[in-house]
Amino acid sequence: MIPVFIIASEEVREEGRIECPEGTEIVADTDPALLAAHTIVVYAPGLDLQKILLTCRCLVPDRIVVVADRSEMSVATDAAERLGIDIDIVALNRFDAGSMVGPVDLGTDPFRMMVDEVDGDRVQGRRLSGGPENGISIQAATTSSSGQCEVGNHEIDGDVVSLSLVSLHSAITPGAVLCRSGEVPEVSDQFKADLIWLGEDDGFEGRPYDVVIGGQIRRATVSELKHRYDPHNYQHLSVRKIGTGDCVSVTLGLTQEVAFDDVSTTRSLATFTLMDHYSGDVVGMGVLSHSLRRAQNVHRQELSIGRVDRERLNDHKGAVVWFTGLSGSGKSTVANTVEQELHRQEVRTYVLDGDNVRHGLNKDLGFTDADRVENIRRVAEVARLMVDAGLVVLTSFISPFRSERDLARQLFSEGEFFEVYVNVPLSVAEARDPKGLYKKARAGEIPNFTGIDSDYEAPISPELEVLTHELSPAECASSVCDLLAENDIATGRRFV
Ligand code: ADX
Repeated sequence: MIPVFIIASEEVREEGRIECPEGTEIVADTDPALLAAHTIVVYAPGLDLQKILLTCRCLVPDRIVVVADRSEMSVATDAAERLGIDIDIVALNRFDAGSMVGPVDLGTDPFRMMVDEVDGDRVQGRRLSGGPENGISIQAATTSSSGQCEVGNHEIDGDVVSLSLVSLHSAITPGAVLCRSGEVPEVSDQFKADLIWLGEDDGFEGRPYDVVIGGQIRRATVSELKHRYDPHNYQHLSVRKIGTGDCVSVTLGLTQEVAFDDVSTTRSLATFTLMDHYSGDVVGMGVLSHSLRRAQNVHRQELSIGRVDRERLNDHKGAVVWFTGLSGSGKSTVANTVEQELHRQEVRTYVLDGDNVRHGLNKDLGFTDADRVENIRRVAEVARLMVDAGLVVLTSFISPFRSERDLARQLFSEGEFFEVYVNVPLSVAEARDPKGLYKKARAGEIPNFTGIDSDYEAPISPELEVLTHELSPAECASSVCDLLAENDIATGRRFV
């Protein structure tokens, strides 16, 4: 039986007004369980019907039924017409949840299984859809051609599937998605998708999240925020950030490919949740519309001279020192002093400084949270290119959010990204106020000023913390140089 999800208002849910037979579940419109719904019943009393039907449209179920009184019926038909979706309408006094649950054989869906464990020729995992049969040929879903293996025997216990294979292929490893040969899902790392935002905090283009698609977990960013749907007239509105309850059309970029299906093939590989990387909270749910096929169409150009060649010529490794801290904490002063010392050691360096970069590359960006996310994303990518060029890059940006500093860190290998927290109390930075900006911010002349009315999230485990109110710039710079020397980046050996 396919579970039927009934969306009802909080009041209706609490009062237990709907009898809920087996195979039905009553949920709020924000419940990620809805992603599995083939049938969604919208129990209209107390609901914002226009908004809920938009949510339903984004979730692409096979069937939408609206249970409504006379006045709500016209709202529902009008909304359905504008959304271009088919709905069935049932009068409130005729509604019987049990009649919605029809026997449907999900076993006819294509077989999909997420591998948890491989032990010799035995493979165990979680069934995502369909079922295996003895003697069939299966394979892992990958872009490269994957060998086929015959299923000798299989057992299914609830969602757990155990297979014993006649032969094993190296692509069958934990985390792989298995399927029947000839019914292989597609593989991609970039998608167009509709997303319903569930997080309390705003979502931003460029910020990294964890995405879960049929048990496959990847890092993902909303690489393009295309538009938000106006919940009352369904027009496309432009957006810079995603607020709680928003339905948005986005491009999702993943750091690694995933196996996925069209929603008409299986729901398990077509739907996704987005999670906050730190708290693990679900912040969004949605359905993949289609792949943008970047993986297949955009190739990397092989070049003859590589980073190692450039580093050999420079006689030192490339790395990035990521200074973060409040405005006026001394980031630029310390970075400048470090650069002088490294320059003296004939180390090739470059300082990327917020105030300078914002005059050129990032001159289109302001100081809203969304703009700061984009500011840091671009700077991190530029730093990556410069490190590839063999330079020691010193970045000096407030970079107030952990997510983006983490995104920057992930662009680099272990041992080449050094986060330096330039830590001073706000009162000290404010007393210094070298550009008179704190004074203006306190007077309400500069909105979203870090530390005043915009957050600064201190690093949890930076490679180094320097206290510029206790040590001189030279002393702080010297501990940064020591850190680089200890890590074999710039050892200063030309001068010893
Ligand atoms: S970040 O938050 O996006 O990393 P960035 O380091 O590029 O900021 O720029 C910060 C500099 O911009 C500050 O040193 C300050 O001179 C200036 N500035 C102007 N407006 C603001 C603001 N609202 N908040 C913080 N800094 C600001």
